[in-house]
Amino acid sequence: MKNHLTVVDHPLVQHKLTLMRKKQTSTAEFRQLLREISQLLAYEVTRELPVTTATIETPMQSMDAPVLDGRKLALVSILRAGNGLLDGMLELIPSARVGFVGLYRDEETLKPVQYYFKVPTELDKRLVIAVDPMLATGNSSVAAIDLLKEAGATNIHFLCLLAAPEGVARMKEAHPDVPIVTASLDERLNELGYIVPGLGDAGDRMFGTK
Ligand code: URA
Repeated sequence: MKNHLTVVDHPLVQHKLTLMRKKQTSTAEFRQLLREISQLLAYEVTRELPVTTATIETPMQSMDAPVLDGRKLALVSILRAGNGLLDGMLELIPSARVGFVGLYRDEETLKPVQYYFKVPTELDKRLVIAVDPMLATGNSSVAAIDLLKEAGATNIHFLCLLAAPEGVARMKEAHPDVPIVTASLDERLNELGYIVPGLGDAGDRMFGTK
């Protein structure tokens, strides 16, 4: 299996991430940067998609040319911040199937509770890429992957913008078979469960809420 954690250290990814972290970056700029960076991360997370060949005619001659093999992949957004990564990825992979997982935290048990779940059929035959910008405690990511596995997914990757060591460890313990691709492994979580140095609340920053 590929590495459990891949940090994409490409200079464009790192530069865009720095711009996103800055507190003076506007909602419009943040959204645009997220769109751009999601496409660069999508490039990395789809690196091992199966490829076959098809015979095509170029203006010069026929050739056996590489084409993607197998079922269309499934992108699954963990609501609501996952949608920011989803938009850019769909520009790069327009034929991808799309699913959504909605979870909220029960204030008494502190456990994630599902309020929405809609995913493409035949998950067992697809590469499933779950997307959420922030891998913080890992609680919602682990719960979302639990649900995807219950729905039949066997080949799941997790894509995020930032990861905290605590979240990576939690995912590794619960789902060692799910590789994580991220733009940065940050220092730690603070006492409120925010990633530091981080970029704040990803949902608020991309949607302009507070
Ligand atoms: N979710 C966010 O949006 N930001 C964090 O730092 C942690 C979780």
